[in-house]
Amino acid sequence: MATTSPFRADLLSDTLTRPSEAMRDAMARAEVGDDVFGEDPTLRALEERVAGMLGHEAALFTPSGSMANQLGVRLHVKPGEELIGDSLAHVVRAELGAAAVLSGISSRTWVSERGRFRADDAASLMITGVGPYQVCTSLVIVENTHNFGGGTVQSLDEIRRARAVTRDRGVAMHLDGARLFNAHVASGVPVGDYGREFDTVSICLSKGLGAPVGSVLVGSDEAMAESRIWRKRFGGGMRQAGILAAAGLFALDHNVDRLADDHARARRAAVAVAEAAPASVDLATIETNIVIVDVASVGWTAAAFVDAALAAGVRTYAVGPGAVRLVWHLDVDDAGTDAAIDVLTGLLRTPPTA
Ligand SMILES: Cc1ncc(COP(=O)(O)O)c(C=O)c1O
Repeated sequence: MATTSPFRADLLSDTLTRPSEAMRDAMARAEVGDDVFGEDPTLRALEERVAGMLGHEAALFTPSGSMANQLGVRLHVKPGEELIGDSLAHVVRAELGAAAVLSGISSRTWVSERGRFRADDAASLMITGVGPYQVCTSLVIVENTHNFGGGTVQSLDEIRRARAVTRDRGVAMHLDGARLFNAHVASGVPVGDYGREFDTVSICLSKGLGAPVGSVLVGSDEAMAESRIWRKRFGGGMRQAGILAAAGLFALDHNVDRLADDHARARRAAVAVAEAAPASVDLATIETNIVIVDVASVGWTAAAFVDAALAAGVRTYAVGPGAVRLVWHLDVDDAGTDAAIDVLTGLLRTPPTA
């Protein structure tokens, strides 16, 4: 039985969705086998489907988005070489130094506006052919949509421009597509059009798509065969994981188009927030399911605002000293959105006195 949330609205993250009864039924009925021996038919069906959707030869199911990203890093960057990405990228900021610890590589970053990817930023930071003198760039990371940037959708033209440069210079590109389906629903660009521009792509089933566990990495047959070895080495070989793959297949069937509802609710809340505190949110920046509110603009610290909202039953997340993130997902409906609007606009209108 699905458990219910103790909050009036839980806007902490889109990772905390609970599987619906129908998704649980699909999981319970899944045909399974031992995937370390390559014998799980449901997992194989999921991998084939995701590879096809993203325009790649093969795919590999992983327990988390972080593992899928780190397998991509491992594939493209030799020890002592570097990856480059923007300074807010999940791979460099929120995977706890995994690229350095697991692959022995370094990372350099450029500063972006809200995580917006620009080919020129990548082109001017990358260094190739410097042999024994400096660290060589082997990989460019792009995140779409961009989490800490506030759900930013990346431009396919910029990605294509970067691809032309990286191809010339022998540098690989990996897409952290934890929320690629949000980008697709917001922009109308097919996920395969994004996917084909990259050597590898990770997508998450356990964020907006609402599956309880799982991500998928895609790439060439050869790259995925190598990643299968590294996944086992990282401790991510799974046995009867078809139960999880069934949730992923269900999510792809039922939960992609409905992401538009999350985007619409996020925008409705952002409009209300902007009415209550015009300097706290720029509506032009609301592209998908994430809203970042500058609570400092009306005199709150993020920590105090998060506590006050929580006391009123609305869970949010501090992403900076004065910035609070709100994330819409499957488990926040219209009534939850109304409750969030009520609480958040009330707090913004009555900041604490100094
Ligand atoms: C953009 C992005 N990439 C990767 C991940 C990692 O996913 P996981 O938590 O499954 O490791 C996240 C998680 O929030 C994310 O937001």
